[in-house]
Amino acid sequence: MLAADLLCEADVAQEDLKVLISEADIQARVAELAEQISKDYENSGDLVLVGVLKGAFIFLADLSRQLTIPRVIEFIAVSSYGKGSRSSGAVRLVMDVRGNIEGKHVLIVEDIVDTGHTLEYLIGMINSHGPASVKTCALVRKADRAEVHVDVDYLGFDIPDEWVVGYGLDYAEKNRTLPYIGIIRPTD
Ligand code: PRP
Repeated sequence: MLAADLLCEADVAQEDLKVLISEADIQARVAELAEQISKDYENSGDLVLVGVLKGAFIFLADLSRQLTIPRVIEFIAVSSYGKGSRSSGAVRLVMDVRGNIEGKHVLIVEDIVDTGHTLEYLIGMINSHGPASVKTCALVRKADRAEVHVDVDYLGFDIPDEWVVGYGLDYAEKNRTLPYIGIIRPTD
């Protein structure tokens, strides 16, 4: 698909979305998570926040700006094969972190944990860099969809197994920049 096509295609119409988590509720929870993380990593040196592209970019931006501790930002990109209604569980590294994270405290920041395969893979990948510690943070988790158990140390919300968009989450690359998280209504 051409970039121009992506830009021209409209987002899912807002009347076809049902708000699941409002902008106010997201912002309040992000503030709580940031407060807890700031307490937990006080006096730990620079915390390395690793945002998982693409979906985590908005959550990472908001969360990182609410922290009161020293932090640095990294990104990592993965792709999963057979992603659709059911993930194949195979995850491939597309882009690794740029900086040296050996001996550093790392917090992986995800928008969503669905089957858990991506986060499980990422924990292994980050551990291969020899960090001081690795913890995980996700804004939402579909607990009913878990295929592997992965600890989420800082979780925003457990959500039902519905297709959600907004606040970084997409449907065919659309609706990522909505300030709230919405459920796409079935079209039939
Ligand atoms: C989403 C999300 C996680 C992954 C979770 O990424 O950002 O990385 O799926 O799914 P899992 O728990 O079943 O592994 P997606 O593949 O949609 O890519 P994107 O972030 O670029 O939209």
